[in-house]
Amino acid sequence: MTRLPKSITIIAAALAVSVSVAACGEQKIQVAADSPERHAAEVFKERCAGCHTFNAAGTRGSAANIRTRERTDGPNFNVRFACVERVLYAIQNGGFSGAIMPGNIVVGRDAVAVAEFVSKYAGSEAPGGRPAGMGDEANGYQCTADTAEPSDPSENQPDQAGSGDSGTGPGE
Ligand code: HEC
Repeated sequence: MTRLPKSITIIAAALAVSVSVAACGEQKIQVAADSPERHAAEVFKERCAGCHTFNAAGTRGSAANIRTRERTDGPNFNVRFACVERVLYAIQNGGFSGAIMPGNIVVGRDAVAVAEFVSKYAGSEAPGGRPAGMGDEANGYQCTADTAEPSDPSENQPDQAGSGDSGTGPGE
């Protein structure tokens, strides 16, 4: 009976290898399982992942490269700051242009929770600090008056984000 446990060990080892290989394409949510933002991170991963890259939610939906960019690729929240009212506005109106992102794919309390989650974690890889008007921890990441709604939707097109790249972030 010493042979059986050994083969089980080999099978278990083989399974462990295949599991870790499978995990390469799939990123983990970086919010702790017992965090109050965990639910929102899961909702984001479920509903927003296809179009937005955001490490906090383990998603890679934004374009990594301008040559492979698709029309539906939205801003990369690793390098883009956000504040609550703006995210809510985007969720309710389908982005700022209303042209590509579907509106109201998350509603009610989940929409607020996702907006708070995005606002808190967005910009983690952005160069420089949190811009003025994007709120901070003390005010719950609420936008200040002049940033609450975009004045010109075209400013928020990912391909016109100013730095000359795709707007989905450097280096990714
Ligand atoms: C089908 C693709 C798609 C899905 C799904 C999607 N988005 Fe978007 N989103 C976009 C695109 C494209 C833009 C940029 C153009 C625009 O603003 O209309 C955008 C813009 C945004 C913006 C504005 C960001 C900025 O600063 O310019 C926010 C915030 C946002 N999305 C949040 C979300 C959230 C939260 C979800 C999930 C509930 C989501 N998106 C789902 C494609 C998508």
